[in-house]
Parts: sequence; structure tokens; C-alpha cells
Amino acid sequence: MMEPTLFLKNLWYFALPGSELKSGKLVQRKILGEPIVFGRDASGKPFALRDNCPHRGVPLSEGTFDGETIQCCYHGWRFDCAGACREIPALADAKLNLSKIRAFAYPCREMHGTVWVYIPENKLNGHGGPAALPDLLIPEDETFLHVDRFLIEGDIDQATIGLIDPAHVNFVHRSWFWRSQKSAKLKEKEFEPFDLGFRMKRHRPSENTKGYSILRGRISTEISFQLPGHRFEHIQVGEKDSVVSITLLTPVDETTTELNHFVYSSLPWIKYLWWPLVRLGRAFICQDVKVFRKLKKGLESHPKVMLVGDPDAQARWYFELKKQWKLAQDTQTDFVNPLSPATLRWVT
Ligand code: FES
Ligand SMILES: [Fe+2]
Repeated sequence: MMEPTLFLKNLWYFALPGSELKSGKLVQRKILGEPIVFGRDASGKPFALRDNCPHRGVPLSEGTFDGETIQCCYHGWRFDCAGACREIPALADAKLNLSKIRAFAYPCREMHGTVWVYIPENKLNGHGGPAALPDLLIPEDETFLHVDRFLIEGDIDQATIGLIDPAHVNFVHRSWFWRSQKSAKLKEKEFEPFDLGFRMKRHRPSENTKGYSILRGRISTEISFQLPGHRFEHIQVGEKDSVVSITLLTPVDETTTELNHFVYSSLPWIKYLWWPLVRLGRAFICQDVKVFRKLKKGLESHPKVMLVGDPDAQARWYFELKKQWKLAQDTQTDFVNPLSPATLRWVT
């Protein structure tokens, strides 16, 4: 029997907001337990290298970066932004082919103000992953605003099922600005398989969700979830405007997950509401972070847990998708989305 796996490989993960990657600076991150150093090359393009010097493993991020090469702080080996070794100061033998010595370079891309890194299963076999970058649903030259970053004390599975779980909303997010009490209603939502996940078909948001009511006029929303842990919400406002909210989960390691939230809006007046909205968004996610802390305490004793009925269907789908992705990687076959269209009903 196949062991369930926690981390999916051969996928793109969100790494950091582009605005945090200043030219000439190195930024260290741990993603899926792998130490990675990020920077920008001379042309401004982001790069990502394994943050261990190939010589003796010291983090390259502890070294110095002149905008073109990184020099390790220990014996001064120098690497270019593609990870190739360029110089070994103490080496007298000029015949050694240095470029064979490499720090692993992860594929790295920047889109709409977000930087992504591809984590391969096998670092020796080249990258060649078929996985495409996710579609971030905003116009070509637009940029997202980074709303917030949170550390969740839970693994990627707990964080993800918390993100796509409709039943906690009335209990965890029961606050004046989002839901009024006793407003629970029966909801019926249509879902379909989509790309590496599923989406809730475009619909008018429910009337008991006050968060949407600042967007006056005809609005509709489409929410999708994609492996490895990305939630995209596209809100159409009238004929030509849109608000896009994306929530990206990146596993730091087996026990911690980073959540990043970005928003884009074509509505100019949103700018004036930016700070109040950020504060609301933060309060909302803080409620999740707090409940995750309680969950962590509960899970310390390894209780048996369950997924029950329609409210937990999306969590079950997530595990099915994961299993299928892993199987496709192990057998080197194309990923086939295992889900079918479904209507889910719940009371929130
Ligand atoms: S450990 Fe980096 S140069 Fe020796
Ligand atoms: Fe939540």
C-alpha cells in the first residue's frame, strides 16, 4: 500500500512577494524543509539556489552577493546566479573544471508581484516537470498587493483543509463584520473538477456574508482550489471590473505552513479602503491562526479524526487529488483529475 505523503513535489510553490526581493540582496527561506536562497540576477530576474555551499554546506545566504556572484563566507568559493561555481580562491590547480561544481538551481519565476519556485522530486534528473504555473487571473501587466503573511502551526494538510472547510466559518469567523449570528442558511453549491483541483462554479455570493456587500452592484464569484494549496477567488463586479483574492499555502516544514494573501482590484476606490480592508482581512485570518493553535494542542495526543458528509467533501477531494498527483509522479504518467462534478449542501 502506498504511504500517504505530506509534501507534493514537481509543483510550483509560492515563495515570497517580489517586493521583498531587492536587487543585490539575498533572502533565505525554508520551503518543504529545503533551505533555499533567493536573489535577483543582474537583469533583475529572480533566482533560487539550494542554500548550502556545495563545498561544506555552509548557507550561501551567509555569504556576500555583488549582484552577479555569491561568495561563500567560509572558503570564498564563488557561484553565479545559475549556481555554477566560478572561483575557488585557494585552488592552485587551474585545470579543474569549476562549472561542474554547482549549487542546485531551482526553477524560479516572478508573476504579478509574486515569486514562485518549482520543487522537483529528483534534483539529478533535471527539472522537466510538466506542471504549468498557476493562472493568477489578473490582466497581463497588473500586480497584486501583498496583504499579509501568517505562520500556521500545522502541516500543509491541516492548513489546506482549514482553508477549504466551509463548516468552521460560523464558529470561528462569527464576528460583526463578516457574519451576523443566527444567520446560518442552507447552501447548495455546484462544483466541478478543474486543472489540479476543483472549483465552485460562478454564483452570486450568499446574502448573509457581509464581506461582499461593500462591492455594490451585480457581483458574482468563482472560487477554485488547486494543488498544492492555493485558493483563488475571482469576483466579477458589473461588466468590466474584478477583484481577485488569492491565498497561497507554502509548507515551511512538517509542522509549519506559511499563508500568504494577495489581492488585486480594478476598482480605483478600493485603494482608499485599503488599510481598513487589510485590518479586516488580518482579523479574519487571525481567527484561523488561533483555532489552528488549539487544533495543534488537540493533535498532540494523535487522536483518530474523521471527515464527514458534504461539509468535509472538499477535504476528501484534496486527499484524493494528492494521492493522484503522487501516483502520476511515481509512475511518470500524466496527472488525471480524479474528481467528478458534484453538488454539495451545507448549513453555514
Ligand atoms: S563551505 Fe563554502 S567555500 Fe567552503
Ligand atoms: Fe477560516
